[in-house]
Amino acid sequence: MKPMLSAENVVKVFGVPNSPHAITALSDVSIDVFSGETVGLVGESGSGKTTISRIMMGIETATKGVVLRDGRRVETKADWKELRRNIQYVFQDPYTALCPTMRVGAALAEPLIVHKKCPRSECSDRVAEMLKKVGLHPDVMRRLPIHLSGGQRQRVSLARALMLEPNVLICDEIVSGLDVSIQAQVLQLLINLQSELGISIVFISHDLRVVRYMCDRVYVMYNGEVIEAGETSNVFNTPSHQYTKSLLAAIPGVVRNSSVDIG
Ligand SMILES: Nc1ncnc2c1ncn2[C@@H]1O[C@H](COP(=O)(O)OP(=O)(O)OP(=O)(O)O)[C@@H](O)[C@H]1O
Ligand SMILES: [Mg+2]
Repeated sequence: MKPMLSAENVVKVFGVPNSPHAITALSDVSIDVFSGETVGLVGESGSGKTTISRIMMGIETATKGVVLRDGRRVETKADWKELRRNIQYVFQDPYTALCPTMRVGAALAEPLIVHKKCPRSECSDRVAEMLKKVGLHPDVMRRLPIHLSGGQRQRVSLARALMLEPNVLICDEIVSGLDVSIQAQVLQLLINLQSELGISIVFISHDLRVVRYMCDRVYVMYNGEVIEAGETSNVFNTPSHQYTKSLLAAIPGVVRNSSVDIG
């Protein structure tokens, strides 16, 4: 089976390569995402998790290496446009991800209108349907982001990302700004949405307990490289790299207790 989305041997240098100010964010990173799975990206701050995910959805270009969709290289402008429509990104911070002056209904209808997904007259029904799917009352449509709690905002961000029925959802630290009980609700929502919609999820998080709970496979990144990858249970139970061991050792209970659960 071919991965539905891959990054192959991606290098990313910010700034002019070989200049004193150049930053090599990714050295040689390869990541596969298969249909319907949740793939975790973990690693310390600055290890390149956001950069590789931005490259995989075409909002950042690779210095070297390629992105493949269903085994086919994404090359032309039309390929990238198609990719961007099928891969949606949910940001860490729902406070800045949503336009503060745009009511929730308009924010959710916007992707439908831009991509001509349905007649304007049907947008409102589609928005109401999606709000219910993410556990919000359709009346939320009339509110501004400032009138929502952090958990509600993150649900709205998820709803917005799902409006175009993407194949892959990239979730970049989506629960790290939320308190623990709300985190558990949003994660459960994500699991439910995945089984309902059959989407693949790239789940980026610092929190290894959450990654263990959510992900089928995991990539451990360090300093712009993937240093370990595999099924989550294998990586967590028998980490082979010293860095992974130290990441796991920093979380009380995770190494000793393989049934650790969240919240
Ligand atoms: N636009 C940019 N210009 C220059 N350097 C950048 C840019 N974006 C990222 N970097 C650098 O690339 C490296 C990887 O950053 P990235 O944001 O991918 O890390 P991350 O793993 O997502 O970190 P965090 O967990 O803090 O979100 C860092 O050294 C960062 O400073
Ligand atoms: Mg990041």
